[in-house]
Amino acid sequence: MIQEQVRFKVPVGGLSISARGRRYVNEALKNNRLSYGPFLRRFEENFARAHDCQWSISCNSGTSALHVAVAALQLRGKWKPGDEVLVPALTFVATSNMAILQGLKPVFVDVDPRTYNIDPAQIERHVTRRTRLIMPVHLFGQPCEMDGVMAAARRHRLKVVEDSAETMFAKYRGRSVGSFGDAGCFSTYVAHILITGVGGLATTNDPELAVSLRSLVNHGRDSIYISIDDNDKKRHAEVLARRFRFISMGFSYRLTELEGALGLAQLEEQAPLMARRRRNADYLLQALKPYEEHVQLPWWPAHVQHSFMMFPIVCRGGVDKAKFTLFLEKRGIETRDMVPLINQPFYRKMYGNIDKKYPVAARINRDGFYVGCHPQLGRGQLDMIVEAFHDYFKKGGRGRA
Ligand SMILES: Cc1ncc(COP(=O)(O)O)c(C=O)c1O
Repeated sequence: MIQEQVRFKVPVGGLSISARGRRYVNEALKNNRLSYGPFLRRFEENFARAHDCQWSISCNSGTSALHVAVAALQLRGKWKPGDEVLVPALTFVATSNMAILQGLKPVFVDVDPRTYNIDPAQIERHVTRRTRLIMPVHLFGQPCEMDGVMAAARRHRLKVVEDSAETMFAKYRGRSVGSFGDAGCFSTYVAHILITGVGGLATTNDPELAVSLRSLVNHGRDSIYISIDDNDKKRHAEVLARRFRFISMGFSYRLTELEGALGLAQLEEQAPLMARRRRNADYLLQALKPYEEHVQLPWWPAHVQHSFMMFPIVCRGGVDKAKFTLFLEKRGIETRDMVPLINQPFYRKMYGNIDKKYPVAARINRDGFYVGCHPQLGRGQLDMIVEAFHDYFKKGGRGRA
């Protein structure tokens, strides 16, 4: 039996492949080259530059970018199983999953009730002798309070991996996300800011780390050889000797030229897309202001630039999220929970019911959701969201899904 599907008129994510994107993909196909080649190289170089970094290494997901970043720092620092990693209590599971996968212990830190990002004031009390790494997560397009994060890292000599899977082209005090820590990790999965289907990038300004990240993405291979373009005639003998050398354990996390072509095209077109995304968010912010008694809207300090991967909303004043989001969905407005972590079955099994220790994250898990504000949404679709709020809160639709 074919089930009737819910069709959203206002989806949380959207995709439009431009003429340039199609042209680049066709060029990549014409080049008869799917492994690392000119498109990936340009995508990486330009992405790094756009994020105040010297290097960016393409990976097949944001998760693999996180994995190689944690693994590279662990190898270098000789971290032991059970060494600790500070992770916000509100994030997508992949952040702390990658610490767990490396045998490390995630230690959760509660988040700020206004920004939803890691609360720097709470970092200190979770630091122990075994803490090695902080993973601040720039959630929903909003950079974390990096002054506080970096001060704590310096004070305790901790490494920093920024999980920027949800945030691109956003600055904190004029400096780009992904350039503060030892490494920054981005995702280009669907419904993210740049979209290549699957994909990710790890950025760094540390030359040694760049080599290690590249190697880990590529089976732990000697980074003298990334692709057939490295069969340099002048150093043929050296390349030949090292081409099939594996210097550490590693993974098969490479991206292909097709994603490189899509990513490069979108990167070159990001300015109008980002302007539209921010305009959409601004429109929602103004239009939903009359409902602030019922919902908390995004807030960010003046020194932070937001890139609005999505538009986060937290119910308040006794508004029942389940009822409200069902009402919105029945109007064709897609909603998603604001990245729950500590209340998920796997985390409950591993760490127990720790909600009481993280009251802000627990509240956001209970009351928070997001709607889309991506560049494919037009004014009419945004107005559908606004009208739904009006009908629910002002016309007595409240409680009736
Ligand atoms: C905060 C965060 N980290 C990591 C990831 C993982 O990225 P990917 O799905 O590309 O593996 C996501 C994906 O949505 C995310 O939101």
